[in-house]
Amino acid sequence: MSRYMVTSALPYANGPLHLGHLAGAYLPADIYVRYMRMCGNDVLFCSGTDEHGVPITITAEKLGITPMQAVDKFHTIIAGDFEKFGISFDNFSRTTRPEHIEFAQSVFLDLLGKGHIVPKDMKQLYCPDCKRYLPDRYISGTCPKCGSEDARGDQCESCGTWTEPFELIKPRCGICGATPETRDTRHWFLLLDHFQQWLEGWLGGQSDWKTNVLKYCYSWLDDGLRERAITRDLAWGVPVPLEEAKGKVLYVWFEAVLGYISSTREYFAKAGKGPDEWKKYWQNPDTRLVQFIGKDNIVFHCIIEPALLHGLSNYTLPWNVPANEFLNISGQKFSTSKGTGIGLGDYLEHFAPDPMRYALAVNAPESRDSDFTWLEYQSRNNELADVLGNFINRTLKFTASKFSNSVPVADLDMTLLNKAGKAAEEIAVLMESFKFKKAIVAAMELAREGNRYFDAAKPWKSLKTDPEQCAVTVATCLNLCASLAVIFEPFIPFSMEKTRRMLRLEKLQWSDAGSALLKPGHGLGEAEILFQKLEDGFETVMNKPETSIKAEEKEPETLEVDFEDFMKIEFKVGRILTVEDIKKAKKLYKIEVDTGDKVRTVVAGMKKHYTKEELQGRLVAVVCNLKPAKLCGVVSHGMLMASDGGSGVFLIEPGADAKPGDTIR
Ligand code: 2FM
Ligand code: ZN
Repeated sequence: MSRYMVTSALPYANGPLHLGHLAGAYLPADIYVRYMRMCGNDVLFCSGTDEHGVPITITAEKLGITPMQAVDKFHTIIAGDFEKFGISFDNFSRTTRPEHIEFAQSVFLDLLGKGHIVPKDMKQLYCPDCKRYLPDRYISGTCPKCGSEDARGDQCESCGTWTEPFELIKPRCGICGATPETRDTRHWFLLLDHFQQWLEGWLGGQSDWKTNVLKYCYSWLDDGLRERAITRDLAWGVPVPLEEAKGKVLYVWFEAVLGYISSTREYFAKAGKGPDEWKKYWQNPDTRLVQFIGKDNIVFHCIIEPALLHGLSNYTLPWNVPANEFLNISGQKFSTSKGTGIGLGDYLEHFAPDPMRYALAVNAPESRDSDFTWLEYQSRNNELADVLGNFINRTLKFTASKFSNSVPVADLDMTLLNKAGKAAEEIAVLMESFKFKKAIVAAMELAREGNRYFDAAKPWKSLKTDPEQCAVTVATCLNLCASLAVIFEPFIPFSMEKTRRMLRLEKLQWSDAGSALLKPGHGLGEAEILFQKLEDGFETVMNKPETSIKAEEKEPETLEVDFEDFMKIEFKVGRILTVEDIKKAKKLYKIEVDTGDKVRTVVAGMKKHYTKEELQGRLVAVVCNLKPAKLCGVVSHGMLMASDGGSGVFLIEPGADAKPGDTIR
């Protein structure tokens, strides 16, 4: 048994999280943690929201609320979405907690005392129009490293480099765009060069880390580490604990990485454990500290944080930092600040967490960026239903109808169960080397093997010709279901909990896979369908195609349409006859419209805008010759015309004397 301290990057509490976050640092961590727990290890999984820094103040300013109101709001949303996705943190904290603030201040003073932090007088960019200093994201300009024009004062999102405001080429105020001027100020600097040699040696010993992570670190070390300002002239943040630094706060990254430790301290405080319990995880060379992050956070976790921890001395250093690349959406970047992507909450409003966990695990950006599409999601969801769901369902249904819903008395076919044991061993190796993508593919292969076995054994035939053989098949398949419940548990925990309920099994250990878990005569629960298949067009329930939260702004193109083309569209006056809800669709109605020639069914996203009564009997403008499309299982034969702008959605209404069937020109 080993001890693991696992962390996931502290997300900024500046907006709801999206699928890119989940795929990058939270889902892989959760898969790992669940697996490690099932192996009987001592595992602690801590994170929290990063509640200081310019990302927060900018958001609060935009929303017209205080920074505290903003972080309160988004912490609640983020923590709730994580819970619904089954991210099994032991503690999810906040960096605005007084205990975190005190801890971060004590670390600052400790490093100051040790001479790793020193004050320096310097010039700082100041916006004469906004009358404020411009740290971090309040300034933008061209990246000195990669030339991106969107680099900010602390970081370039394109190449991930840590920038200094003064290094930016053509700097401009991030708020009003004015050219900034310089002012004298004093800041405290972390002397990173103190740690260059030590970091080279320490990183040199991490040859089993991901190559992308090491490459990135070496590019930093090759450039030579320099002193970095770790204080800011800002009103929001952890106050610098020095009389002469009134009005200044710690740079958010300096204190955020300490949030992992303060979250762990909070965990033990809440549990009423001794004040030093956290040290077992954070001040113990035997503890394996595994930190899940996205690639834009590498420098902070592989250079800055180890330097701080080493500078403090006695602290556990990262054992591995399996940083992921980015998940894009149809080729574009997900971004909270730019509002692009699919929000976790929006997704959960319509769909269950497990199919997304599965789709993101199979398509994880482990070694290169990957792309999310609804089509890929649909095919992964349907794979769950057709392969895993089908095997478990057919086995359980057959047992219920032919063996009184209990495990038949029979020997087991160990060839199949040994395959499960072997798969579990192979998957364990993959999990321990952070190759979750390969691991889940191997798990699904075992479920496929189950279906092949069931098909080849034909229990529905052997029931009559060789009942003993049939009992062997069924008992073996049931035990394979139990093994699958073990192996899939870290990936799709909700569905596997349901499976265990159906099998009447308690929580399982990883080593249970491949063994005879279900004894003859063991009674089973009621079989339920685990996964629902998705039809084409299912994603329209979200009423947002994948890039539509706010796609990158492109130059509007004016598309000209020939008159003949325009005339091909059949616009008619219609009268709404009936309006019905559609099962599972929160925004759609099924509407029957009389368009003179016939009564047609139209599916329209009007539920949020009109009640059924308001629609009933209303004259509407209908596009009649749109290609039929299936939406939430209902085929739509047309479209109701409506205006859609900031003021709301309003149906276009023909004059009161118009008749159904009249042409609209
Ligand atoms: O990139 C981000 O969202 C940061 N808030 C991550 C911080 S990770 C840790 F250091 F706190
Ligand atoms: Zn750059």
